[in-house]
Amino acid sequence: MKPQDLIRKKGRFSMELSAEEIEAFIVGVCDGSWSNAQISAMLMAMFIRGLTQNEQKALVRAMIYSGETLDLSDIDLPKVDKHSTGGVGDKTSLIIAPLASACGLAVPMISGRGLGHTGGTLDKLESIKGYNVNLTKSQIHETIKKCGFALAGQTENLVPADKKLYALRDETATIESLPLIVASIMSKKLAENLDALVLDVKTGDGAFMSDFQDAARLAQAMVETGKDFGVKTIALITDMNQPLGRFVGNRLEVYECLKIMRCETDSLMKSTLDLSIQLTARLLVLSNAVKDLDEAINICHKKIEDGSALEKFRLNIQLQGGDSSICDETEKFLHEDKILKVPVRSNEAGFVNQILTREIGEAICEIGGGRRQAKDKIDHAVGFECLKKIGDKVEVGEELGIIYCRNDSQALKISNRIRNAYKINAEQPLLENLVKAEIF
Ligand code: URA
Repeated sequence: MKPQDLIRKKGRFSMELSAEEIEAFIVGVCDGSWSNAQISAMLMAMFIRGLTQNEQKALVRAMIYSGETLDLSDIDLPKVDKHSTGGVGDKTSLIIAPLASACGLAVPMISGRGLGHTGGTLDKLESIKGYNVNLTKSQIHETIKKCGFALAGQTENLVPADKKLYALRDETATIESLPLIVASIMSKKLAENLDALVLDVKTGDGAFMSDFQDAARLAQAMVETGKDFGVKTIALITDMNQPLGRFVGNRLEVYECLKIMRCETDSLMKSTLDLSIQLTARLLVLSNAVKDLDEAINICHKKIEDGSALEKFRLNIQLQGGDSSICDETEKFLHEDKILKVPVRSNEAGFVNQILTREIGEAICEIGGGRRQAKDKIDHAVGFECLKKIGDKVEVGEELGIIYCRNDSQALKISNRIRNAYKINAEQPLLENLVKAEIF
């Protein structure tokens, strides 16, 4: 099968490609027999023409088997995972993995790094001294056997097709294609050989898909794909119109999760706890570990309250080479680096009506808390403490939040940006639900 023929068929004639033709495309991506020009032309053809359900399934299958998959069949527990489409202050993975494993599930959580205004689980974990996210396939396996979960980056050989395709999509303006996003995300999750998967599809200003209908379409397509491959899959569409919880920034977010697992959750952290529990409880129900959702929610609360989730996290940190004393000396962990705390004060009185969440994420990125390009280094210590949330009353001069930074010039650089991200009006707004919809 010549690349030109397949590109012509899909791109110029808009005809459906067979499963064999799609497989030939992915084989060509991986063995170098398709040039970057040909791969890019096919990506643009797929972007413009879209994919039929059969093509979508064939693409996901070909990508999954472009490399090795995880085989956890010797672990006699339901295998589950959660995937989030990414947001600001979105740190639930750090709670869900230990909590789900404390509830008797096995979680091979292959995670990503942050890009742009959104954070990534691997970067957060690397704020823990010594923590190794670069595990081999067999280290992932061993870690799950010993503590019920592993938090690691994609191995060299897991869905190698995605690495190549993603880089070319970035260069050819074909990232924002629903079927290509579905194939990219779902191939990586399905290569974990799961029993159940819960997707957290963010919507709102700080999300990848800001529009609710777009988020719902993405959620539906990913759920269908999961089911096509025999994995019980649901999606929650959740609010990203304000940062999740109290903190934004890598170390700060680990700190918040430790506080929650130490049962020291305050009102500003509550949304992080609530969403973590909503997502974990669905994993328990989907994997048939627990019959109904209310019971699953109760079990999750108990496993936080009795310290089991924290103990799982402690063991995981030790197994992955990190300093687990942070579970006890949590305040010391927060202040490990020399950091300046600079308040951002309101110029207005009223109620917080809106928080431009992407702006907050971008501002933290600007002082080194995130990366613009995949190769950028990040500063784990910087971030933002979000003291006022939507609906809160604010007086002139009151603190909206606190910037954690290295020096005054960083604070100066982003103070106004953060202040201006808060929209304050005389009227108190209606509060939005954290979980906006559930897609089965
Ligand atoms: N995340 C991914 O892993 N792939 C995409 O295409 C988009 C978001």
